[in-house]
Amino acid sequence: MRVGHHIVPPLAKQSGLTLDEQQLAAWGEDLGAASNPPLVIAITGDLGAGKTTLAQAICRGFGVTDAVTSPTYAIVQQYSSERCPVYHIDLYRLDDQSHLTNIGWDDIMAEHALVIVEWPERAGDRMPPDPLHIELDYVEGDATRRLLIAG
Ligand SMILES: Nc1ncnc2c1ncn2[C@@H]1O[C@H](COP(=O)(O)OP(=O)(O)OP(=O)(O)O)[C@@H](O)[C@H]1O
Ligand SMILES: [Mg+2]
Repeated sequence: MRVGHHIVPPLAKQSGLTLDEQQLAAWGEDLGAASNPPLVIAITGDLGAGKTTLAQAICRGFGVTDAVTSPTYAIVQQYSSERCPVYHIDLYRLDDQSHLTNIGWDDIMAEHALVIVEWPERAGDRMPPDPLHIELDYVEGDATRRLLIAG
């Protein structure tokens, strides 16, 4: 499946996938390996839905060489890979959309990079027009699985 010039693993075609944590990580690694920057991946989902877990897996699959578990509360985390810069942006603590400018948002979005955004809704109309969108939802009655909706 091709989304623009981005290649998305075949599983992403399906909606209604429920995945345990290990499956979600494996899916994320596949997505990272198939990602073709410039690419923005927007991950939505409630607190604890697994956005960071997925973002870290995408980074691993893409070939990020730094440790992606860096314990930081920075809104923007930059990693390196052999291919291009990788940004993991968590907008949960963004106080106001206007603060995007302070974190270098426009420059990052103009770069040839892989950019993964948690809480993209906080960026409002400053999100680029067509990111690859992934939604994670809790599954009622099963705390170990998440519903994945992609594309
Ligand atoms: N199927 C699953 N996929 C992902 N995480 C799972 C799954 N089942 C249980 N979990 C647990 O849910 C938690 C997900 O945490 P994570 O930090 O990835 O969520 P998040 O969406 O980034 O949260 P936040 O909104 O606070 O940033 C982890 O503790 C993980 O172990
Ligand atoms: Mg998170």
